[in-house]
Amino acid sequence: MKTIILGIESSCDETSASICIDGKVMNNIIATQSIHKEYGGVVPELASRAHQKNIVLVVESALKGAQVKFSDLSAISVTQGPGLLGALMVGYSYAKSLAFALNIPIINVNHMKAHILAHFIETPVPIFPFLCLTVSGGHTQIVKVNSAIDMVVLGSTIDDAVGEAFDKGAKLLGFSYPGGPQIDKYAVSGNPDRFPFSESQIKDLNFSFSGIKTSLLYFLRDHLKNNPDFIKENLEDICASYQKHLISMLMKKLVLAAEKTRIRQIAIAGGVAANKELRTQLKQLSQKHQWMSYIPEFEYCTDNAAMVAISGHLYFQNKSFGQLTDAPQPRMSF
Ligand code: KG4
Ligand code: ZN
Repeated sequence: MKTIILGIESSCDETSASICIDGKVMNNIIATQSIHKEYGGVVPELASRAHQKNIVLVVESALKGAQVKFSDLSAISVTQGPGLLGALMVGYSYAKSLAFALNIPIINVNHMKAHILAHFIETPVPIFPFLCLTVSGGHTQIVKVNSAIDMVVLGSTIDDAVGEAFDKGAKLLGFSYPGGPQIDKYAVSGNPDRFPFSESQIKDLNFSFSGIKTSLLYFLRDHLKNNPDFIKENLEDICASYQKHLISMLMKKLVLAAEKTRIRQIAIAGGVAANKELRTQLKQLSQKHQWMSYIPEFEYCTDNAAMVAISGHLYFQNKSFGQLTDAPQPRMSF
């Protein structure tokens, strides 16, 4: 009998559903909420309302696209946390009701672990144990992945996530939310060596990104005093320089983690893994250090249900099921 998993993701501002059949991801339907652009960040209440509107259509579209009926499903995997409570509740309550009605198991998925397990959607897959630099809007971690169910965090940020540093920096430059992709775009034609920004010096494998964001704030304030058009005239170079230092901080820690663990299977995951320069730098470092590197397709970097569906498939093999009495966990630990 086939194992057919419906994956549901609703932790932030993407409502997404995906079908995975015997480990093969069939589709990845995503409804992105553009309403948050006007507000400079995700507004939790608006996110929940949009999920509520989208969820039924998104799930129906995933089922239809894979030619699967509700009655064919083996289990439903759903993001339990971390994320926004109201947003999680929409996907989670929907998943529980459906699991109850169909009398099939529910599978609880940790969003950050799902970003890592996105590497099992396509081949070649990383060989255990591998290191994964997980970089998103809410988290920045280096994880040692021993198996699909055994992951150990080796280092993480002590303040802002790198995605937050991209987004807050982008906001200072006048971009709308999320600004990370805009910095990426403008940086392509800029000079990364033109402006220095101070990189944090944090011990071990931990990160800190709040200092560099403040250094951009003061830098812009000083230059705008003398020239109100400073940003407009230097946008590409500012983006390239700021981005260069953010990525350099990530890469230094990744090299250190690889040295410490002697692991040469290196992956990146999460929204910021869509960044072109980060992807290029990882390829270059891989050549230098003879790493085998793994970079997900763009659609599997930012939030998506395909990563939740593949996680569900892997957990299904282990019979790791949740209970209908479980609840979403906005601060779910790793
Ligand atoms: O994983 P994700 O979609 O959502 C969370 O789990 O947080 O990550 C979103 C983050 C945002 O901060 C966004 O600006 C950033 O990923 N991001 C990028 C790029 N694409 C998305 N940052 C830099 N360059 C990109 N191309
Ligand atoms: Zn995410």
